[in-house]
Amino acid sequence: MNPNPVLALDEIDLADLAFWARPLEEREAAFEALRRERPIVHFEDPEPPPGVSFPVPLDGSGYWAVTRHADIVEASRDPEHFCSGQGATSIFDMPTEFLEFFGSMINLDDPRHARLRRIVSAAVTPRMVKKIGDEVQRSASLIVDDVIEKGKCDFVTDVAAKLPLRIICNMMGVPEPDHDLVFRQSNVILGAMDPEYVPEGADVTMALIAAAQELTQLMEDLARHRTERPGDDVTSALVTANVDGEQLTHQELASFFILLVVAGNETTRNAISHGMKLLTECPDQRDAWVADFEAMAPTAVEEIVRVASPVIFMRRTATEDVTLGGVRLPEGAKLLLFYWSANRDVAVFDDPYRFDIRRDPNPHLGFGGPGPHFCLGAHLARQEITTMFRELLGRVPGIHTTGDPERLLSNFINGIKHLPVAVA
Ligand code: HEM
Repeated sequence: MNPNPVLALDEIDLADLAFWARPLEEREAAFEALRRERPIVHFEDPEPPPGVSFPVPLDGSGYWAVTRHADIVEASRDPEHFCSGQGATSIFDMPTEFLEFFGSMINLDDPRHARLRRIVSAAVTPRMVKKIGDEVQRSASLIVDDVIEKGKCDFVTDVAAKLPLRIICNMMGVPEPDHDLVFRQSNVILGAMDPEYVPEGADVTMALIAAAQELTQLMEDLARHRTERPGDDVTSALVTANVDGEQLTHQELASFFILLVVAGNETTRNAISHGMKLLTECPDQRDAWVADFEAMAPTAVEEIVRVASPVIFMRRTATEDVTLGGVRLPEGAKLLLFYWSANRDVAVFDDPYRFDIRRDPNPHLGFGGPGPHFCLGAHLARQEITTMFRELLGRVPGIHTTGDPERLLSNFINGIKHLPVAVA
């Protein structure tokens, strides 16, 4: 069903955090209107939320919201004109060291981006992929054991959040007692605008830096340890030279780890949580998937990622005066590529508000557009989502939500913080 418009075009202000607190249907309707009427539109800089101080003063240039699928694909494919090096995750400009510290390769352009991506890709050998796959299966099975015992639970904290966190930590060799620290700090980094994670009145910038420092310390200790005594994990492979003599410095490793825990954790967690919600709302889709799980899994998982769109946008910056979708953009223009909007674009998706586990083709942009920054963890994310639902639908097919989701207040992550479920 199509969302009913509530806001008039001129009332839509994506820069106002209050917009993101509006009901989902209103936001969907607003984006639909933008795609139709003003597909690339300029907004003023957002007001910094209370407690936020920016390391670099706002330059007053505002940003451009890119909402159509075709324009986002075009910008993603053209990193020479639309770069990531001035920041991919923040609307505001940040000092370069800050960007690298928090974002690693996601905030870099080639050739530095390509170097990091090459080293990281080489570190994940087929043997490691197999080991990670076994771990995904084992963890999902243990998580479902717990759910069965409890009968009802908070699906986000008891199920969806547990799997990706365990997998990333195990992949990197983080000891089990430190998993909880990683969970708390990643919540702070991605949920900084939400008072559940950073209390109102607190200095958000300081909270972010403190969270990143804790993760850095953890990784530096681990890197030292693994340099002396390499083990069978990705950290060991990253700190010891590969066949081409390449390796990461400890600082690069810490930044990459911060990227992994935020990029790989919250995103997959939210895809799984949205999946649970969607399957409850659409029992015909759930029944179809239960009836033939393996045959449906590949398209069902893509459809969950499309509808969930866990990452709402990524930023690019125009490297020179350039035209996109017929709009002239000046050098330095900040563009927010709204994947969430592209994934509901009628020009590409029939009946885009319908959750259809058989949707094929499904060229969604949930993992980013085609280009050098396409999600490095897409394969792992698909594997985790598939395994989690195989376990759930195979062992507790009656599991369903029993209340509304509590949503994360964020313009960046389409997050669910809590979701009550019952097993039967
Ligand atoms: C459903 C789950 C996931 C979603 C929706 C998602 C989404 C995205 C998106 C939209 C980008 C593009 C960034 C850009 O173009 O600027 C990205 C990049 C990235 N993702 Fe994912 N991601 C998911 C899971 C994961 C997992 C599980 C990992 C790793 C364990 C991961 C690691 C990364 C990394 C390292 C990048 C940066 C790649 C680069 O800059 O070259 N992601 N992801």
